[in-house]
Amino acid sequence: MNIPDIIVAIDGYSSTGKSTLAKLIAEEYGLLYLDSGAMYRGVTLHAMENGLIAPDGTIDEKGLEKALETLDLDFRSSGTEKGTFIGDRCVEKEIRTLEVSGHVSPVSAIPFVRKFVDERLHAFGKRKRVVMDGRDIGSAVFPEAEIKIFMTASDQVRAQRRFDEMKAKGEDPVMEEVMKNLLERDYIDSHRETSPLTRAADAFVLDNSDMTLHEEMVWFQGLCQGRFGILE
Ligand code: DC
Repeated sequence: MNIPDIIVAIDGYSSTGKSTLAKLIAEEYGLLYLDSGAMYRGVTLHAMENGLIAPDGTIDEKGLEKALETLDLDFRSSGTEKGTFIGDRCVEKEIRTLEVSGHVSPVSAIPFVRKFVDERLHAFGKRKRVVMDGRDIGSAVFPEAEIKIFMTASDQVRAQRRFDEMKAKGEDPVMEEVMKNLLERDYIDSHRETSPLTRAADAFVLDNSDMTLHEEMVWFQGLCQGRFGILE
């Protein structure tokens, strides 16, 4: 099935499987996949590495604003490395640690950080044929997106997924900490002042607590068929 040149916006709570679905949609329909959370994680890693986040979590906002002036944060590939880069360094692994996850929500709530990331996302969105996942893609970054999906799943299912993911990467997560981080992020993400996590009025809700990835793809295909009148 071919789909037109569109933007697909996938938003939702942490660990609902947004990126898994987005990547598969990108592959299946030939769209470019963009992980907006990785940008916020990249900013957070940069702040941590430059001593701009104190051990108690306090963010040196003035310092961070200055650091963003010269931060070269981008999605690209170089040799075998692909994903988020700070300058010439691929930081794909570093941005996924629990430490970064612990600081990313407060960092992403800062308005100038959102502006910094939004500018980069908009540049990618100009090309169309993009599937982007995040928290505010359908509601704030690309309100004109042709397809908007809002993903959700039970807390237990989400924590288990995140736990399994970390285990698979060779980490040694503690379930209580994973759950705590998840719920804390959900709270901060949906209660911040600037573009909080919220379902756009025209977003389709996908609760995948009890769905396989294949079922999610069938659901998406049905959505496209209905939306674009594709008979297949
Ligand atoms: O999708 P993720 O868990 O990698 O995102 C990390 C954090 O980035 C998330 O806790 C909130 C923030 N974020 C955001 O505020 N807006 C987005 N569009 C994407 C992520």
